[in-house]
Amino acid sequence: MAKRPRIAVVGSANIDLTTFTAQFPKPGETIFGQKFDLGFGGKGANQAVAAKLCGAEVFMVARVGSDLFGPATIKNFQNLGIDASHVRQVEGVSSGVAPIFVDPSGQNRILVVKGANDTLKAADVDEAADDLKRADCIVLQFEIPLETVYYTVHFARKNGIRCILNPAPAQLIDVKAISDLDYFVPNESEAETITGMPVRNVEDAKKCAEKLLSSGIGRVIITLGANGSLLAGREGMEHVPAFNVKAVDSTGAGDAFIGSFATFLGEGLPERDAVRRANLYAGLSTTSVGTQKSFYDRSRFDGEWAAKGRG
Ligand code: RIB
Repeated sequence: MAKRPRIAVVGSANIDLTTFTAQFPKPGETIFGQKFDLGFGGKGANQAVAAKLCGAEVFMVARVGSDLFGPATIKNFQNLGIDASHVRQVEGVSSGVAPIFVDPSGQNRILVVKGANDTLKAADVDEAADDLKRADCIVLQFEIPLETVYYTVHFARKNGIRCILNPAPAQLIDVKAISDLDYFVPNESEAETITGMPVRNVEDAKKCAEKLLSSGIGRVIITLGANGSLLAGREGMEHVPAFNVKAVDSTGAGDAFIGSFATFLGEGLPERDAVRRANLYAGLSTTSVGTQKSFYDRSRFDGEWAAKGRG
């Protein structure tokens, strides 16, 4: 039987307010959208949920606001079996929220208001240190302060814990401060913002990965949406293709990739196999509406993998 990895997510939790629309209003104009969906989101929380649904033991270090959404978010973690003992409510700030717009092709545009996520500090990581030290892997994103991310990458290295960083949403960073990590996993637009190089196809992605590797990062995975992902290390690069799916909402697909990849890798699968499976897991998440609610549990995923993953 596969090892059950213990994954810690130090990251964000948001409430997603998703509007499905074919058009966007001009300044001063009011138009009708087609459909609305309210759900739990946030890149950190989504990655934690994906890892949990894939079978990992998961705990979350996060901050939520003193509003209706705060306690509901904590309850959601608990209902899913995610350890939320390091998720605290902060007085006087809102929870993180994300108004999201999805067009008829399933493509999304996201606006994040960080709220309480922005109050997660290095001292909070220290407070959770005993639990973090028991993790096999720490997963981070960019919806919390960058100083907290840098601090946690260093903490992971110091304690010999695998560290995966998803630089989303993209921000200009001090690459030296994160070069200690094990996996750097941007999507095309994040890779583009961070390196200043265009990423329109697999060849572009290779050049971009080369630049990231030369700046000292050990392993890079650039997720390429319907084109799969590029796995890159100093020994070489490989394009790992996606699986065919009928996408209706791509929101959270990158998070599905990361949470599932962390789990598959933690179970002891070779890296390339973990990436292939994560490609399918992410693809499946785009076939229904919402973020966390579109993620498959392990038995549904294993069924799809048995049907599609061979070869
Ligand atoms: O990656 C998708 C997520 O980005 C959404 O859940 C939203 O909350 C933003 O964090």
